[in-house]
Amino acid sequence: MQIREQFPALDQKVYGKPLVYLDNGATAQKPRQVLDVLQEMQAGMNGNIHRAVHYLSVQCTERYDRARAAVRDFINASSENEIVFTGGTTASLNLLAFSFGQTYIRPGDRIIVTQAEHHSNIVPWQMMCQRTGALLEVWEVEDTGALDPKKLEQILDRPGEAPRLLAVTHISNVLGIVNPMEEIIRIAHYYHVPVAVDGAQGIVHKKVDVRKMDADFYVFSGHKLYGPTGTGVLYGKEKYLEEMVPWQGGGDMIETVSLTRGTTYAPPPMKFEAGTANFIGIAGLGAAVEFVNGLDTNAIEAYEKKITEKAIESLQKIEGCRIYGIPGTYYGQVYEKIPVFSMSIEGAHPSDIAMLLDKKGIAARSGMLCAEPLLERFQQTSVLRASFALYNTLEELDYFVESLQKVLKMLR
Ligand SMILES: Cc1ncc(COP(=O)(O)O)c(C=O)c1O
Repeated sequence: MQIREQFPALDQKVYGKPLVYLDNGATAQKPRQVLDVLQEMQAGMNGNIHRAVHYLSVQCTERYDRARAAVRDFINASSENEIVFTGGTTASLNLLAFSFGQTYIRPGDRIIVTQAEHHSNIVPWQMMCQRTGALLEVWEVEDTGALDPKKLEQILDRPGEAPRLLAVTHISNVLGIVNPMEEIIRIAHYYHVPVAVDGAQGIVHKKVDVRKMDADFYVFSGHKLYGPTGTGVLYGKEKYLEEMVPWQGGGDMIETVSLTRGTTYAPPPMKFEAGTANFIGIAGLGAAVEFVNGLDTNAIEAYEKKITEKAIESLQKIEGCRIYGIPGTYYGQVYEKIPVFSMSIEGAHPSDIAMLLDKKGIAARSGMLCAEPLLERFQQTSVLRASFALYNTLEELDYFVESLQKVLKMLR
């Protein structure tokens, strides 16, 4: 596959075996296009942005601004002012929880999260509730891993007590189920509830159009999208970003600073980007977005669907294997699944399986996957996860399933 050749990290051996990298849900490998930008800038194309008139600063500023334009285009935001650069999904959600909380939340207000959230989309809201006196409520997940929109309506439909925010994942990193975001947001907006979408997994596997989805906020990380670590995005509708108080103070986020008259802030997005930005990383994120933009997303979605169908079929044949997150038509909606397979297998602990797979060159994940409430829902304390990216092959899937069967023979 031509795409695969662009990722030098995939061409390595571990323990003398070709690497089969199936931990893409945690972080993805990077294409040459991204590595080249990082290398060039680390090696010399390096001058602090937005501050100086000299050549290197201007070059770096241009690259930073170009990344913002690329992200705006990629998710179809209305304006570049709606794209705030952060250190990743977690940083975006903490920024949002702080700034949204300080601006709009009063004691007794309700905030809704789902049971399927990553800790990054739970803990910042819990902290915000502690700061503000708001109450966190939970939209529970069904046995299939799907979220039932009817249950959302029941949570929202309390006259005089409409929640202030719904925080929901586009795609859970455990279940891989694609939540029907347009429908969820339509319902929330009917009750005048804004929606913050955790797109850490969604942005990687689905074409995201924030305007079509009508998300009020959409956040994601660069490193899962074939970009550098330490980079991320908070998309927010301009009306919110304009009203929200800043999160951190410092250089670049101000309009004027006076020791006697106080400080006025720059308009968004700069209001939320205090201090020297990770401008090299963000230029790399821009390159990653341009890389993905250059791909045939329909062909990739079709390919990932093929991997998903084949994987489910093969894994379901393994005795005692339970997969969490089963695609299907529920509540009149199609719930697709991306190639993320979390499972428990009777008679073998996920960590032991992952350790033995590692010796066969397979990088898979085991543990709570930063989703303890969701695992608890399924009475698990640990699962095994294989998560595929666009560069993984069907041969790698076969090798994973064969290896898993061999490992299980050793363990059970
Ligand atoms: C659904 C989801 N949300 C949030 C995160 C947190 O992302 P990061 O660690 O890049 O901030 C992850 C990472 O695994 C994730 O999968």
